[in-house]
Amino acid sequence: MNIDVNIPVLETTNICAGYGDTQILNNVTLSVSKGEKLAITGRNGVGKSTLLNTLMGLTDLHAGSIKLHGQTLHTLPPHKRALSGLGLVPQTRDIFHSLTVEENLLSGMKNRNNIEEAYALFPRLKERRKNGGAQLSGGEQQMLSIARTLMGRPDVILLDEPLEGLAPVICDMLMDVFFNLAADGARTLVLVEQHIELALEFSDRMLILDNGEIVFHGPTETVRADPSILEQHIGLGIMET
Ligand SMILES: Nc1ncnc2c1ncn2[C@@H]1O[C@H](COP(=O)(O)OP(=O)(O)O)[C@@H](O)[C@H]1O
Ligand SMILES: [Mg+2]
Repeated sequence: MNIDVNIPVLETTNICAGYGDTQILNNVTLSVSKGEKLAITGRNGVGKSTLLNTLMGLTDLHAGSIKLHGQTLHTLPPHKRALSGLGLVPQTRDIFHSLTVEENLLSGMKNRNNIEEAYALFPRLKERRKNGGAQLSGGEQQMLSIARTLMGRPDVILLDEPLEGLAPVICDMLMDVFFNLAADGARTLVLVEQHIELALEFSDRMLILDNGEIVFHGPTETVRADPSILEQHIGLGIMET
């Protein structure tokens, strides 16, 4: 693996953001390096989705700055952020239920070149390419949502609770996909995950949010070695999840 911790790919400085005048995130400063696997965790409603959505330009930024590959990102609309290399798999799995799998993958795409790559990653989607989005299982819808994001060839991939509500066998399969995406060190993965065991297994670095603020940020090994960090910031009993 080729992780160069000296190259920040995505950086935020003191971002404050929310919905309209309501501020949810307070002074969030983070930096993610090329090839890194960052897990973001924290209780329900602390602002994890708001943070990913803010990176993508889907909330109201009140203050602070966001840079991708050293370039200012926060002044760009979401589609331009996607063209710059940022990809979001939203918690809501925004696929088009009235379109087929293949139409979903091609929507908004100028060419079909990446579709075979998507099918190679998810053979199940190739089998179901003529099926409508509404006919898919929850796991297949999540595969489609991930594959759609990958069609834009992002090098920073934001995953918002991608395993939520899925069967263990599908979770294992998706975790393998995430590890594969990170394997050559060319992509950076940011995984929002409430399953602590999965977040610990997946990440090099962890960030814990509480009430819109970063309350812990450090190497995952530090958290593995001292689970009281999780108890302190997320709550007792978390290790049983
Ligand atoms: N579209 C929205 N409009 C107004 N408030 C919202 C919206 N989405 C989320 N919130 C509020 O922002 C806070 C953080 O939510 P969210 O980022 O979804 O938390 P998490 O992903 O950590 O569960 C919550 O109080 C939630 O009610
Ligand atoms: Mg969320």
